[in-house]
Amino acid sequence: MSDKIAYSRHGDIAVLTVQNPPVNALSHAVRQGLWDGMDRAEADDGVKAVLIVGEGRAFFAGADIKEFGKTPKEPHLPVLINRIEASPLLVVASMHGVSLGGGLEVALGCHYRIAVPSARVGLPEVHLGLIPGAGGTQRMPRLTGVEAALEVMTTGRQVKADEAAKMGLIDEVRDGDPKQNGIDYTQSLLDADAPRRPVSEMDTPAAIDWDGAYESILARGRGQISPAQCVRAVQAGVEHPFAEGLAAERKIFMDLMQTDQREGMIHAFFSERAVGNLPELKDVEPRALQHIGVIGGGTMGAGIATSALLSGLQVTLLEMTADAGEAARKRIAGNLSGALKRGKISQDQHDKILTNILTVVTNYDALSDVDLVIEAVFEEMSVKKTVFGELDRVCKKGAILASNTSYLDVNEIAASTSRPEDVIGLHFFSPAHVMKLLEIVVADKTAADVVATGFELGKRMSKISVRAGVCDGFIGNRILSTYRTAADHMILDGASPYEIDKALEEFGFAMGPFAVADLAGLDIGWAVRKRKRAEGIDPAARDSSYADKLCEEGHFGQKTGKGYYDYSAGAKARVPNPDVMPLIEEERAKQGITPRDFTSEEIVRRYMAAMVNESAKVVGEGIARRPLDVDMTLLFGYGFPRYRGGPLKWADIAGLPGLLADMKEYQKEDPHFWQIAPLFEELVAEGKTFDDLNKAAAA
Ligand code: CAA
Repeated sequence: MSDKIAYSRHGDIAVLTVQNPPVNALSHAVRQGLWDGMDRAEADDGVKAVLIVGEGRAFFAGADIKEFGKTPKEPHLPVLINRIEASPLLVVASMHGVSLGGGLEVALGCHYRIAVPSARVGLPEVHLGLIPGAGGTQRMPRLTGVEAALEVMTTGRQVKADEAAKMGLIDEVRDGDPKQNGIDYTQSLLDADAPRRPVSEMDTPAAIDWDGAYESILARGRGQISPAQCVRAVQAGVEHPFAEGLAAERKIFMDLMQTDQREGMIHAFFSERAVGNLPELKDVEPRALQHIGVIGGGTMGAGIATSALLSGLQVTLLEMTADAGEAARKRIAGNLSGALKRGKISQDQHDKILTNILTVVTNYDALSDVDLVIEAVFEEMSVKKTVFGELDRVCKKGAILASNTSYLDVNEIAASTSRPEDVIGLHFFSPAHVMKLLEIVVADKTAADVVATGFELGKRMSKISVRAGVCDGFIGNRILSTYRTAADHMILDGASPYEIDKALEEFGFAMGPFAVADLAGLDIGWAVRKRKRAEGIDPAARDSSYADKLCEEGHFGQKTGKGYYDYSAGAKARVPNPDVMPLIEEERAKQGITPRDFTSEEIVRRYMAAMVNESAKVVGEGIARRPLDVDMTLLFGYGFPRYRGGPLKWADIAGLPGLLADMKEYQKEDPHFWQIAPLFEELVAEGKTFDDLNKAAAA
């Protein structure tokens, strides 16, 4: 028997204990061990029942994702589960921690299920670009009905034990040790002469409007195919005998296994976990982190403060005046009541945070005790330097001084203090208590334990933290600025903002770039353009002023009711603002450009080429350490579709040589903009991919 499964006897019960840390993934050795364990139990004199239980953190976290893409080895999971279900012995699952994907499917192959109250179950395969592939789409609807099963498997959400019991997935919820609970429960079933109860032999559930469900789930997935495919697998199980339904499910699962979406999603899964894994921080202890200061209580500062409070940190927020402080407190209270409504905190915690844990002050001296302070004041170097001068004066020795700047030079900010080793950039994304991304900007002199503390803060706040080097815009905004420029060029040449938004939303972005600009506020881009113009624009660069004119007319996007779109009928009912196209046409005429048509395909290709090229520069220059750091930045901060894995994963899948050939064509039109990243050319010359760089970094 495999050493992943321990076999023991407890009276008439054989217990198969899974030992595959950290999360009992159903690797080949585990599957083989379960098979052999069933064989042994069935041959073991006097055994009447088998109990399957996990050791450590989970029952099973599902199929071993590391085996995906390799040739599957027997016993395959669906066959193993059928074998468990068909056993003449009574088979019971005792669940704790998570039972996900194949893990829940094993439990559904058992005849009875017990769980501890903290257990969570789910079929999250859609998050990996798949559908449940070991009977989940066939067995779960037989227990819960079709609608509940589809809701769980198309959202991939984790269901708590109590709810799962109400749905019919779990027979009993009982507190205690999972193994002992399982033994007691199995014994009670044996004592009551409970029959074997294979789910596959239960009645098929009632049909629903399959096509309607398929279409609505497909639309919700913004181009992601696997959730809608769950509908087809469930439908097959309702319309055909169990074995045929199972075969249909397997076929869809195996087909999805071959898709780019599956590859993109699995890349995202592992990159999300690898992103905080930096060799330079391996043995570095973070500094103490209990009390943080926040300077500025606008939307950003209040969001950062909220995020810190929700992660259990004490917060002192500094504003310039008592009135501004009061407004900041109200913003934070508003954010916290949202968290209360979503069940993230209790009423008691909410009240305690506002009365005891948050302090709003107007005097820098109140920050003398903080472990870390983040400034979120106006984005101008002179203002930042004044703030850092004050912080340098009042903060205790060893306190970390962080800037939330999104563009400015953190080295220059650090140099304005007497302790540059304690200075770091912590770039949050608005709303900071919601958005998952945190760029940790490491300046030349930042100490390693300050970087480690940045990552520790990100972890406590449940953020995806990405290490970035210093440059204009760091990783995310620097790349954003380039692909936005590519979009502006397409507008000058004939595309409309609406065609561009539509093409990119069809590609999978949550919002197109012009809808995003309206949401963020057009005044932000206007301020950046003014700053860059003041610094001096390269005369070879294409420029335009229609967007400035839009701002001059007072159209800043959603907050003023008009930007690229008109929001007078509400934020969702966006319609093109009729003032925009005349401004664009005027600009084209001024520059002597005859507009041409753009297909959606060309829009996506150019936009993505610009994004990938700048990303390659960012990696080549060491601003991002690995391609996956760029991918996670775009995924968690910029609405890049998860199922495409990130821009550099997308580029690998699309094929680097073809993209390079495109860029060389674009370069002929505009050599200034299309300066190809040396790293990109090197990878193509060596026949390598961006993922090869990720692998080399992990080795
Ligand atoms: N296979 C292989 N490794 C896995 C894994 C899996 N299913 N699930 C987690 N891991 C690994 C992680 O990569 C991580 O490894 P490192 O420590 O080397 O980075 C380690 O286990 C711990 O994971 P987390 O850091 O994510 O720990 P957590 O406590 O935050 O979360 C979890 C645990 C809820 C199980 C989470 O890891 C998770 O959601 N895992 C994926 C579950 C899943 O999608 N299962 C379905 C698989 S597909 C399937 O089963 C198909 C089928 O029907 C046949």
